[in-house]
Amino acid sequence: MALIHTSDLGLTSNPAQSAAPVLRSLAIGLVLASLTVTMPVMAAESVKLSIDASKTGAKIDRNIFGQFAEHLGRGVYEGIWVGPDSNIPNIRGIRNDVVAALKALRVPNVRWPGGCFADEYHWRKGIGPANQRVETLNPNWGGVIEPNTFGTHEFMDFLDQIGADAYVSVNVGSGTPQEAAEWLEYMTTAQPTMLAKERAANGHPAPYKVPFLGIGNESWDCGGNMAPDYYLSQLKIYSRFVRNFNPAQQAKQQMLKIAVGPGGDGPRWIDWTEAVMKAYQHHTWSWDINGLSMHNYTVVRWQDKFASVGFGETEYAQFLKSTLEMDGLVNRHSAIMDKYDPAKKVALVVDEWGSWYAPLPGSNPGFLVQQNSLRDAVLAALNLNIFARHADRVRMANIAQMINVLQAMIMTDKEKMVLTPTYYVFKMYVPFQDATFVPVAFDAGTYTHGNISLPRVDAIAAKDTTGKLWLAIINLDPNQPAEIEASLSGITAKAAAGEILTAPKVDSVNSFDAPKTVVPKPVSARVQGGKLALKLDPKSVTVVSVEQ
Ligand code: AHR
Repeated sequence: MALIHTSDLGLTSNPAQSAAPVLRSLAIGLVLASLTVTMPVMAAESVKLSIDASKTGAKIDRNIFGQFAEHLGRGVYEGIWVGPDSNIPNIRGIRNDVVAALKALRVPNVRWPGGCFADEYHWRKGIGPANQRVETLNPNWGGVIEPNTFGTHEFMDFLDQIGADAYVSVNVGSGTPQEAAEWLEYMTTAQPTMLAKERAANGHPAPYKVPFLGIGNESWDCGGNMAPDYYLSQLKIYSRFVRNFNPAQQAKQQMLKIAVGPGGDGPRWIDWTEAVMKAYQHHTWSWDINGLSMHNYTVVRWQDKFASVGFGETEYAQFLKSTLEMDGLVNRHSAIMDKYDPAKKVALVVDEWGSWYAPLPGSNPGFLVQQNSLRDAVLAALNLNIFARHADRVRMANIAQMINVLQAMIMTDKEKMVLTPTYYVFKMYVPFQDATFVPVAFDAGTYTHGNISLPRVDAIAAKDTTGKLWLAIINLDPNQPAEIEASLSGITAKAAAGEILTAPKVDSVNSFDAPKTVVPKPVSARVQGGKLALKLDPKSVTVVSVEQ
């Protein structure tokens, strides 16, 4: 069956702006759908896209390209932090190769210190002279020693080196409002308080910026098994007292407070979103939130998880089918949010997403080490496209996790570093950061494997801050190339250029020995008479820009 993507979900809350493209998308979709009635979609048939660059939707917030670095396995220790005495080249203990790679991604924000770890983290143990830091335990993740050598100052230094903003999750589960309030005062006040003086004595007289504050993590589970009402009482207290004092964050760049939200689909999560958003609707001057977190991993099954390497087309198709459920999930929770917050003041923040596979054989199961294949690249692009279509509500997201953990950008082994297929998708999508969504009408067609049917292609478009048009197109079909014919109106298209990411097999990976198996290559694109023609390899992600 042919699927129609009307691609209208990124349209703004301004009805005048949004109505026309929706109708247009629908109209084109219907025309294309009727074509498929008389002309069944053949595997190699060309896919027609229609883009009117004068019709725009919401801004695709750069923060949807956010990262997550938890004290988990080798994510922080070895992944970021090697210590100043390491033979691995570093600046103040932070490895240079990783910093250079992340700078190229223009990482907008990093969520830290967890995850489940955040609700057992006590910030005071991570400040002060390195040789006086105490060792504690990390019971969530392998029960290993937490050396506390990477704490607040090291995190902020790392952010400074890569040019990202801080998204700090405070401890609601086993901490107190006072502990969290003092941490924020320590980080952000410019007044000469005892805590500000302590910060200065520890090497940073100037206040830090904390643009994003997470109030707890999965408080319905590892964050304390709280019922919605109990969490809401905590949320109101933390929202009231955990203040940001940075003078630069008062009138402008105010800190956004992000509440714990749902962890999936079904009545339990619907109830949670209902409870938080209903409370928000009636919030008073003394507390507020600006974001509702949502966590959703692509797992297929939690018991006997899928392998991250050594799989075939069946597992490829099953995993992509599962990841596409993100769209329905966003729709359902957004609908609840719309009910209580029609002005869309509260962002849906998908601050944990990505693939979760079985741990690699021989690794500590508590370290969540998995490989990263071409399948993950396609999965990442599909999710980024979903977020872009929901750009009016999804204004922030954080893939889990940045280095050596789950769906990582980067893997390290002592002094070695390799960039994953997912890394390259994030790199190719950089032009979409803060770009304005442009609706794309197309007939996705169908890729079928056994009893699984998926859209054959997926596409988004956006105009960057200079007005240049960008397209991201995914060919999900692992067997057939896709000929793309995009009709472009609203611009005078002269040429197009871009890159395609693919590999010989669905489970191809970049390894330390063969780091260039899955890397982007130039794609040939032709523009003639207002039409863009492209040939997409099977199982590929392509990003092109259109010259005017
Ligand atoms: O990302 C790994 C873990 O998954 C996080 O710590 C937790 O929030 C989630 O359950």
